[in-house]
Amino acid sequence: MPDQTVTIEFFDQEPSTFAGDLLVFLVEEGIPQAAESGMGINRLLAKVQETGDFKGEKDQAFVLYPGLAGVDASQGVSAKRVLFVGLGKPDEAINNRRERLRLAGGTIAKQAGAVKAKEVLLVLPKEYLLDAVEIGQCLSEGFLLGNYRFDLYKQPKEDDPPVRVERFLLHDGGLAASAVRKGLELGRILAEATCAARDMANQPGNGWTPADFAEYAKKLGKKSRLKCTILDKGDLQKLRMGGILGVNQGSAQPPFLVILEYKTNKKNPTILLVGKGLTFDSGGISAKPPAGMEDMKYDMCGGAAVLAAMQAIVEIGVPEVNVVALVPATENLSGAAALKPGDIIRHYGGKSSEIINTDAEGRLILADALAYGIETYKPQAVIDVATLTGAVIIGLGHHYTGLLGNNDQWAEQLTEAGARVGEPLWRLPLGPEYRKQIDSRIADIKNAGSDRSGGTITAACYLHEFVGETPWVHLDIAGTAWDFTEKSYIPKGPSGIGVRTLVDCLRQWRPIQSADKNH
Ligand code: BES
Ligand code: ZN
Ligand code: ZN
Repeated sequence: MPDQTVTIEFFDQEPSTFAGDLLVFLVEEGIPQAAESGMGINRLLAKVQETGDFKGEKDQAFVLYPGLAGVDASQGVSAKRVLFVGLGKPDEAINNRRERLRLAGGTIAKQAGAVKAKEVLLVLPKEYLLDAVEIGQCLSEGFLLGNYRFDLYKQPKEDDPPVRVERFLLHDGGLAASAVRKGLELGRILAEATCAARDMANQPGNGWTPADFAEYAKKLGKKSRLKCTILDKGDLQKLRMGGILGVNQGSAQPPFLVILEYKTNKKNPTILLVGKGLTFDSGGISAKPPAGMEDMKYDMCGGAAVLAAMQAIVEIGVPEVNVVALVPATENLSGAAALKPGDIIRHYGGKSSEIINTDAEGRLILADALAYGIETYKPQAVIDVATLTGAVIIGLGHHYTGLLGNNDQWAEQLTEAGARVGEPLWRLPLGPEYRKQIDSRIADIKNAGSDRSGGTITAACYLHEFVGETPWVHLDIAGTAWDFTEKSYIPKGPSGIGVRTLVDCLRQWRPIQSADKNH
């Protein structure tokens, strides 16, 4: 994996003494102060604002070079450059404030990149109607997410070697220092985990195979308190996991079911996470068209999100719950032994499925993992994350993740988590009218309807069959795992979506009342 480590530290000296590349202040629109009153920086800001070139609008950035105009004009600021970043007009909605800070963090990363800064100091705003932990967290998270690059496969240009930020420093700006330190640490953990998921996704199909998922999980297990179990092809055969094995038939790479367990206390509820780990989806015999097929290396983003979330929760700690993560991992290719339309497979637990379209493979591997995970770990609640259907892109575009599920309270908890972290979710219905579309004449169920109508819903209906009554939420991230809404902290390519939503939701877990069962 590429090494992108940026040292992120707390800075407890006077910001004007910082002699590094870039000193950053955040400015709300209409507020003429960037820092505590009495600081020279406010006089610099006043001069900039007089020109009318910088108002503090959302995402607006303004760089000045205080030393260039002479020592007197620098107002005592020692940094090479000063960057003002706009936060826009004050907004009362708390989730918008969180998002503004993440966006500001991303803008700082972009600007730092543009001037090739190696050392950046950000002075936090003294007040922003959020507690100091959150201010520190959102800004460091936004910065580290925005600073992400993946250049493992590029040779560095000799005349123009890449320069990256090596040290990102935070000054409390008058906020409680211990709270800022805590926020900075949370932001670092969440951003690093999200970037780890992006790294896995950026790897091509020949750089990230099912075996790489297994290796990654083993390493996580070794260096943390996660218990790792890898089920290989022989184990899957013994367990009769016909979905994972069926999809794997056309591939030369062996399949795995990767399991990570995070245990706190037996008395605590267990939450099961399942992520689609399809390391390349050609469609199989029902082949996809060639244009854009290279993007199907991203078909493992659900699995990446789930593993990365586990990596973050060991560091952050979620003392109220136990968490089990399952990643069924295989390729979907069309080798001589590949699954064919019309074939019938049997899932873990015995349900038979008629294969109508070998490109509807995600549900086949998830079905085994869900059925096995629920039977084995008896979770109180389940979340699966998958790049499952092209139809979700037609419905929601690249801005919202599709959410479907059998329990309103659980769906609500996920929706709230997504809104807090800037990964919005939108619920679609489930129901018997859709379920009928996947009735099979010859088997218990078929893996695709006879037309494409309601494709995201019929896919979820398929999964529902293997979940039953356990509170369950399915996140269809096909539209958001890459090409996600352009944001300063989400560079082009894989977004790492799901990691921060999953962790936030686990941190905020509230028991689900069993009375609230739907569908
Ligand atoms: N991995 C794809 C879904 C996908 C499509 C993700 C586009 C991201 C972008 C999935 O395996 C698939 O091919 N689904 C089919 C299902 C259909 C055959 C019932 C689809 O969505 O077309
Ligand atoms: Zn497919
Ligand atoms: Zn797929």
